Amino acid sequence: MRHDHIISAKQLSRGDIETVLDHAADIAADPGAFADRHSDTLLGMLFFEPSTRTKMSFTTAMKRLGGDIVDMGSVESSSVKKGESLADTVRVVEGYTDALVLRHPMEGSAKMASEFVDVPLVNAGDGAGQHPTQTLLDLYTIRENAGFEDLTIGIMGDLKYGRTVHSLAHALTTVDARQHFISPESLQLPRSVRYDLHEAGAGIREHTELDEILPELDVLYVTRIQAERFPDESEYREVAGQYQIDAATLEAAKDDMTVMHPLPRVDEIAHDVDETTHAQYFQQAHNGVPVRMALLDLMLGGDQ
Ligand code: NCD
Repeated sequence: MRHDHIISAKQLSRGDIETVLDHAADIAADPGAFADRHSDTLLGMLFFEPSTRTKMSFTTAMKRLGGDIVDMGSVESSSVKKGESLADTVRVVEGYTDALVLRHPMEGSAKMASEFVDVPLVNAGDGAGQHPTQTLLDLYTIRENAGFEDLTIGIMGDLKYGRTVHSLAHALTTVDARQHFISPESLQLPRSVRYDLHEAGAGIREHTELDEILPELDVLYVTRIQAERFPDESEYREVAGQYQIDAATLEAAKDDMTVMHPLPRVDEIAHDVDETTHAQYFQQAHNGVPVRMALLDLMLGGDQ
């Protein structure tokens, strides 16, 4: 791949996307063939925000490629507590490891940190900014279930603070999908994201009600209201609990519509959806391993 650092889905061309997804499919078909691929590699894990899937699937991916991780641990137990800057932390840890994975609450932090290091740095979420590796596993799941040809997708929930949405919308524009955004008015896409999508020639429409568009969708991507990013709790309470789906909601959907969610879910998807053939969110999370193996392998020169 052309990129040292993976900071934003905006930097991924259609060719890059297909390369990673094809490689992920090869790895998923025969993971054992890649088991010793990076036996000398250490991946530095810098997570300044909670994570289950992203951190554990990067860890699994690195170990399944034969490598290992070095983990900063929690912010509470690191020198961040003593006032160390992010720039200093990444400059130190790049000396221990071959690549870095960073999650941080500040939008723009991954870009900033990448300017201080020579090893490849992957953005695993920068505040409400971007989450490009989630997007790659989302695209893998979409391609497996619905394909990219003539794709109509609905993205519902917190479009304002949801970084998975911001990244995914860019990539869906790259693969020419029709995008419908469903949210309360107060949680619509940020103006900057909408502007970038228009510039990139995106076909997007915005809705406040899911039922306006549900029967047309091939994929419904549901997201959590990002409580931790609301400056004002009363603003959060106004929108909490809206935009939930259950099995009855899905009766109006195409039989083969795929329901996705980056997880964790709170109450956006009722548990009765889990038993339907629509539900793909657990498989989506599992796809994080081959997709992150593919990305790491390509970043670390496995394609040469
Ligand atoms: C997402 C995130 O951290 O942005 N989680 C994930 O990485 N799968 C979504 C979320 O927290 O709502």
